Amino acid sequence: MTDVVHTPRVFSGIQPSGGLTLGNYLGAMKRFVQLQDAGDMPTIFCMVDLHAITVWQEPARLRHATRELCAGFIAAGIDPEKSILFNQSQVPEHAQLAWIFNCVARMGWMGRMTQWKDKAGKNSENASLGLFAYPALMAADIMIYHATHVPVGEDQKQHLELARDIAIKFNNDYDVSFFPVVEPLIEGAATRVMSLRDGSKKMSKSDPSDMSRINLTDDADAIARKIRKAKTDPAPLPDSVEGLADRPEARNLVNIYAALADTTAEAVIADHAGQQFGTFKPSLADLAVAKLDPISREMARLMQDVDQIDRILGRGAERAREIAAPILAQTYDIVGMVRAQGA
Ligand code: TYM
Repeated sequence: MTDVVHTPRVFSGIQPSGGLTLGNYLGAMKRFVQLQDAGDMPTIFCMVDLHAITVWQEPARLRHATRELCAGFIAAGIDPEKSILFNQSQVPEHAQLAWIFNCVARMGWMGRMTQWKDKAGKNSENASLGLFAYPALMAADIMIYHATHVPVGEDQKQHLELARDIAIKFNNDYDVSFFPVVEPLIEGAATRVMSLRDGSKKMSKSDPSDMSRINLTDDADAIARKIRKAKTDPAPLPDSVEGLADRPEARNLVNIYAALADTTAEAVIADHAGQQFGTFKPSLADLAVAKLDPISREMARLMQDVDQIDRILGRGAERAREIAAPILAQTYDIVGMVRAQGA
């Protein structure tokens, strides 16, 4: 097997399963925009609607959430001319490659995924088969473009390791070096944004408490109120980052500040050491409103023209298929599928 050097290419996805949170924005989307604007590698971003339905989604809500997510990408700075922006179900090659990967991945690998264990919980007999196979579809999302770099938040690390394992096993089984072994890009001050109500839990769109998260659709008042009410401890901010070690809520707010201000936790601490939360929280609220309110307004504006959003998604899917179709055809050849005459 000879080593093939794959052209660098960025891929990432977000589920349209409810609204976008500050966690999605800081952990993923903001990084997507930086990678797009750096211009070093082509960038492909996807609304993973096939992943969303691994748990029940009400159809009208899924449709709305997919369009709103597309509006969120654009409002955050993704330019559908520079990046390829589309929803997963419109590029059937994802599901087709996922089937091949279902036959490469092992049950044991899937069963060890912490997200599967968390989501299926004690009721795994009743979870969908799709939820179990979720990481194989995720690997297919990446590999169908031969993507090499995948920007994500910390919570996706295990899934990306599994994507690497699938690529390695496929290459070994068929004695090729066809699929790249992807590099996760888990970078920045906010790779794991925590709940505003509990510093030991990830900020998540599925948390029952809306006060635990900032949604990208929140208006300025809601953003400020949620930050004001965020759980903290009574001590002032320390004078070094090490002083945040056992203070998860304080650390979270400092990391959020750093990510919003495009700086580091160290720099935030240097500027705010000794401050009480009564002073720090209003500064953070002002910063969050200044950065997020324009995005939320632009999303609302874009959502007034869903036909335009659908056209953008249609064009994105066409461009995505131009890359995906030949990679699927080559995969089928490697696996030994007979290509029908004229196809
Ligand atoms: P999803 O939709 O749960 O989240 C989308 C992105 O947001 C990041 N993220 C966070 N980052 C920091 N702090 C948080 N609290 C937080 N919450 C979410 C996630 O890490 C992710 O980067 N399986 C993926 C979607 C997916 C995908 C892919 C990603 C499908 N195929 C291929 C990369 C490549 C997911 O459910 O993300």
